[in-house]
Amino acid sequence: MLIRTEITYIMNKVFFYITIIIAILSSISYNGYSQSNAKDKSDMDRKWWKEAVVYQIYPRSFKDNDGDGIGDLKGIISKLDYIKSLGVDVIWLNPIYSSPNDDNGYDVSDYRNIMKDFGTMEDFDALLKGLHERGIKLVMDLVVNHSSDEHEWFKQSRSSRTNPYREYYHWWNAEQGKPPYRYSLFDVNHDAWRYDSLTNAYYLHYFSRKQPDLNWENPKLRQEVYDIMKFWADKGIDGFRLDAFQYAAKDTTFPGFPKGFEKNFNQYYGMQGNLHGYLQQMNKEVLSKYDVMSVAEGAGNTLDDAHNLVDPERHELNMAYAFDGVGIATPEGYSLLHFKQVFSRWDSAFADKGWLSIFLANHDQARLVSRFGNDSPQFRAVSSKMLTTFIMTMRGTPFYYNGDELGMTNAGFSKIEDYRDVQTLNEYKHQKSIGADMQKYMQRIAFESRDNGRTPFQWNSTENAGFTTGTPWIQVNKNYKTINAAEEEKDPNSILNYFRKIVKLRKDNLVLVYGKYTLLDKQNPDTYSYTRELDGKKLLILLNFRSKAEATHTGINLSTANVLMGNYDHPSKNGTLKPYEAVIYELK
Ligand code: NOJ
Repeated sequence: MLIRTEITYIMNKVFFYITIIIAILSSISYNGYSQSNAKDKSDMDRKWWKEAVVYQIYPRSFKDNDGDGIGDLKGIISKLDYIKSLGVDVIWLNPIYSSPNDDNGYDVSDYRNIMKDFGTMEDFDALLKGLHERGIKLVMDLVVNHSSDEHEWFKQSRSSRTNPYREYYHWWNAEQGKPPYRYSLFDVNHDAWRYDSLTNAYYLHYFSRKQPDLNWENPKLRQEVYDIMKFWADKGIDGFRLDAFQYAAKDTTFPGFPKGFEKNFNQYYGMQGNLHGYLQQMNKEVLSKYDVMSVAEGAGNTLDDAHNLVDPERHELNMAYAFDGVGIATPEGYSLLHFKQVFSRWDSAFADKGWLSIFLANHDQARLVSRFGNDSPQFRAVSSKMLTTFIMTMRGTPFYYNGDELGMTNAGFSKIEDYRDVQTLNEYKHQKSIGADMQKYMQRIAFESRDNGRTPFQWNSTENAGFTTGTPWIQVNKNYKTINAAEEEKDPNSILNYFRKIVKLRKDNLVLVYGKYTLLDKQNPDTYSYTRELDGKKLLILLNFRSKAEATHTGINLSTANVLMGNYDHPSKNGTLKPYEAVIYELK
């Protein structure tokens, strides 16, 4: 009897402790998150950078504080509450380092200092503090495929063939003859080799002449970059966006490439040599030591390339962004079937492993609504909201470009003098030199020049859209009196308020982050329909990409579906969508 009582007592105790242990374990946060609203955690591998919405700020055009016509850090600080009000979690800042600005900061002359136009290191510290106080993280651009030709390294490097910095860049001695042709994306002559008489040698620049490529094959250079990264990570930043990094590794014997390779230069430039090895080294030396996110611009040529970049077991980067999607739009329009195919292919390739980013616009593209939607007064708002719905309901981390939350449109420039972008201007000279049809070129850049996305942020209807009290470095879009943040604040149905709402919806519904994506009504050339599913929760997203009503054929009975959000007051309940309609349903 006594023994039985003791056994019962011990069993009870064991049971008690097991219960306690289970309770404690289940209350421990998972990667910093409470598990309460997610059942199937093993599939999700939750991370903050997967659940984040990234808002990209182009500092030059966001807000000018000192009246010199150029946006600055103090300007961003003055808008922190606006940024917070968007509900975004991460800011990606385009380069703010010292730079002669041949390519608006993508030509860095000192990686540990702030560009004079933008302010000081104290301003930067205050910005970081202000963001962190508001629970927002900061990701910085890291531009290390190339530096500025005004960087001290390059000055040293070009000074003599025996200078210790010579090997920080790629040189080809002229007595070897002309180097094998390399295509430059920004050069007037498309020639990536620039002759320098000082040492009778050519240096390599995949971008402009003022952006010489760094020699990643040199371990000393790599160490310099890791030290720079540590400098910023120690300051407390939360991540790096690696500019043009897929081009960093090179075959330094510079073999000849087939004639015409430049039509497909990515195949020859992307993911070469030991690039993955360098990323693994960077991960070991820097990234793994901090809680930072890392994203590469460019994901190589194949899905395998992209996978290898972000496969967690390889310890390289967190995510990459590929250009397949963003490159689809042309002045003649684009095929929605193609668009659906590209995004579905990328999703399925990363369904089990790795992570992607989702974006349709950034500082290298024209405006979202002008390229992918319809910027006529009648459809600008609905089509903007529809595109935003797409970005916010796909799997992958959304990257959203400043101004798109207002539905800002292309610049409408008609004269070459209005443009500022090195790529647009140099290509103009190039086209002229080969006797091209310049009217055609002007039409092309009116649709796709990067400057379309770089006009000043439209804050209000006062002079210069409230961006500056001086003369803006690039003209303000003429439509600022009607399209601006102040107007949109007042309107509960504005694009801005739609953006806030959908960001919140995404944050409140893990299914939109991690849920399985299934494409429906695949062959429909006008509408995009898909479901997202997680732990028994199923959402249906219907998007009409056309300016007239279009029917969807998903086979799903919508009569019991619950509308979570839509871009019309009375969302469709019968599967036929109004022009550019977007609806998110919860299915029962
Ligand atoms: C990609 C950047 O996004 C772009 O703005 C820049 O011009 C090139 N890399 C060169 O740094």
